[in-house]
Amino acid sequence: MNVLIIGSGGREHALAWKLKKSPLLKQLHAIPGSAAIAETAACPAVAQTDFEGIRKYAVENKIDLVLIGPEEPLAKGLSDRLTAAGLKVFGPSQKGAMLEASKQFAKEFMHRHRLPTADFQILYDAAFAREKIRDHKKYPLVIKADGLAAGKGVRICRDEAQAFEAVSDFMEKRIFGFSGSKVLMEEFLTGREISVMAFVDGGSYLMLPVSRDHKRLLDGDAGPNTGGMGAIAPVALDAAALETVKTEVLQRFVDGVKKDKIPFCGVIYAGLMLTPEGPKLLEFNVRFGDPETQALLPLFEGDLLALIKACVDGKLSGQKIEISKETCVTAVLSAKGYPENPEKGKMISGLDAVPADVLVFHAGTRKEDGKFLTGGGRILSVTARAATLGEARKKVYSAIEKINFEGMHYRKDIGL
Ligand code: AMP
Ligand code: GLY
Repeated sequence: MNVLIIGSGGREHALAWKLKKSPLLKQLHAIPGSAAIAETAACPAVAQTDFEGIRKYAVENKIDLVLIGPEEPLAKGLSDRLTAAGLKVFGPSQKGAMLEASKQFAKEFMHRHRLPTADFQILYDAAFAREKIRDHKKYPLVIKADGLAAGKGVRICRDEAQAFEAVSDFMEKRIFGFSGSKVLMEEFLTGREISVMAFVDGGSYLMLPVSRDHKRLLDGDAGPNTGGMGAIAPVALDAAALETVKTEVLQRFVDGVKKDKIPFCGVIYAGLMLTPEGPKLLEFNVRFGDPETQALLPLFEGDLLALIKACVDGKLSGQKIEISKETCVTAVLSAKGYPENPEKGKMISGLDAVPADVLVFHAGTRKEDGKFLTGGGRILSVTARAATLGEARKKVYSAIEKINFEGMHYRKDIGL
């Protein structure tokens, strides 16, 4: 098969690495890809935002399957556009992507189909929001921007002043533009977070091992929220929580999209909190998680492409995933200034010294004169699997000691 990946991050590099192992693969392409992905895939000069260019490239290059990595092109309707052109696409429709792109849409979906989630209220303008906040007495209180905000649109407010500030930032200063035109006020939940991903073919789902992201920038879950600073997989769930995830989250999700006639072929990612009352949904993503995917794919022993093909062919039911019994850890190396204002253009050294059993997936790098330079916020995902979590951590952190760039930052507590 000829496969085209859309995207350029660490997740897409990991997907490219895994797809390359498939006996079904003929040629791999990526738009825009990256210098690292270009080592194993054709990366034409087509922009990720150029939907017509992508369609043309896919048709001309006889692409059998397009896999869309990031949320933006999904939210802008790339899947619909390519599907209409007769291409097979792994990645949901624009309507399906609203489950990630609009928190209001997602919460109303959860509510309608009885998926467990925090109580919420939608606030349509700043004056109304302030009124509701004034009436609210219980803190912390969660205020969320409705639209996409690169993981930064959520504020856990400790008091009324912070809640007012969130409303002002999102709705008046519009720090996330149109994404803050509506906000959600949400009940504060407590518990450990997990990421549950499942393949979905429209009619059925196949759950992947549970993983855990480490979203805050600093050790001990301190500092600002980021796209994710590291992940581990698998994470053990007790039988009751697993049952809730399967029957009340994933099954109701699949039944819900069918009932609402939302075309959904791809990955559903449920961000869940394990609260004292059981698992509750914090959010949906409609794609593979980043960096969870970097920690999951090394555990896949079967053919990822065969599974994805089964999805786009509507034949997911009855499929199985072969998963290693080992544990995988990935730690993100980020640039100084990330997430606000990452420094770029720093030379990365030591990649050659990383042992062969440690994988380094590139996120924000570029190549100049044969050398990798930093070119984003999250730069590399250093990944290893081993029989135990402790051994996997050891492998990852001793490999990180070999790598360096000016201002390099990482969390030392991934998996602790
Ligand atoms: P989200 O983008 O909705 O997943 O939120 C980002 C992060 O904010 C989550 O991973 C949680 O750590 C935190 N968060 C979101 N909603 C809540 C909530 N209702 N209660 C407590 N923490 C939350
Ligand atoms: N790691 C969280 C996400 O992919 O959105």
